[in-house]
Amino acid sequence: MKALIAAGGHGTRLRPITYSINKHLFPIANKPMIFYALERISEAGIKEAGININKGETEIQRLVGKGDKWGLKITYIEQEGGALGLAHVIKNAKNWIGRDELLFYLGDNIISTSIKGLMDKFRRDKLDCLLALSRVSDPERFGVPIIKGKRIIRVEEKPKSPQSDFAVTGIYVYSNKIIQAVGKIKPSARGELEISDAHTYLIEHGAKVGYEEITGWWKDTGKPKDLLEGNALVLAGIEQSRIRGLVGRDVEIQGTAVIGEGTKISQGVVIKGPVIIGANCRIEKAIIGPNVSVARDCEVKETNLKNTIICQGSRVIGCKKGIARSLIGRDCLITAEDSTKPRGHRLIIGDKAEVEL
Ligand code: DAU
Repeated sequence: MKALIAAGGHGTRLRPITYSINKHLFPIANKPMIFYALERISEAGIKEAGININKGETEIQRLVGKGDKWGLKITYIEQEGGALGLAHVIKNAKNWIGRDELLFYLGDNIISTSIKGLMDKFRRDKLDCLLALSRVSDPERFGVPIIKGKRIIRVEEKPKSPQSDFAVTGIYVYSNKIIQAVGKIKPSARGELEISDAHTYLIEHGAKVGYEEITGWWKDTGKPKDLLEGNALVLAGIEQSRIRGLVGRDVEIQGTAVIGEGTKISQGVVIKGPVIIGANCRIEKAIIGPNVSVARDCEVKETNLKNTIICQGSRVIGCKKGIARSLIGRDCLITAEDSTKPRGHRLIIGDKAEVEL
């Protein structure tokens, strides 16, 4: 079995973050999102993976490399013609897949458990397609299965009136019959070859389609709020504190904290875990946490942080009101206003930014 990761598309719902960072490389608990998919794939015993990328992509290749880190042989596959839908991702990789079985994994999905159980069920029940389901409060955002008795009879993509509270997650296991299905379906009204239509095609053409409810949590990180929730869920799973940096005597650490090498935490800082702080940071006079990830080379002074992700090289200084529920990109500077200058907030921010003052 090969694994194919979908890591193309434009992450439009995550702008402006995705103007400068590929969504699949955005750090969740200080680790690029796509690493979570690679870990699950490797853990499931798969050795060959393909990564679907946009034409001209270079950053993913630079960070992921050939896959040695995960014991994988990775091939990069450019999606010809652009992000034309998830079924198109498979169609586009047809030659690479050949006659093999396929684990298809959406690169923006994160789950808390291993996928070995899914693979076991796929084999045990001799399926052509196994859909991993999860109960959600907003099924209209997802592919939704219509289940009669114990069988899925159709899958609807983002239905206005969902007929169940299950979402089809972005983890799919297929026999080679998927190749025929993605070759037969037609683009939807929004112009995409929908993976849900490929599933319905399989069902209607006599393929054996089964499902399994995912135990534990599952997150599709489509929107900013999902990134923060995903970050909190991953941080909650950290079992032990690991303190590598220098922590002053007057610093208080509550709950789990991971602190990187070369980081200095001093001047009465309170860490309320779960929190992760990367290498070479400076943290002073602040309350950090819960659910905060600060990437390497950052500085946080006189500013309390809660439920926030800060990317590499950013500085947050003297923001008395504190910062919460925020995503801060790389090399940003956020400071208190300069009292010697005319009053008012000074902002240098790009397109589609969101600021609450
Ligand atoms: O996350 C589960 C949901 O994923 C399913 O319930 C839906 O049935 C399925 O269509 C999909 O919906 P999304 O709206 O979340 O898909 P999105 O466009 O966000 O794409 C998912 C990932 O695949 C994302 O990492 C980008 C990548 N992608 C997407 C498209 C459309 C590609 O690599 N190429 C593409 O053409």
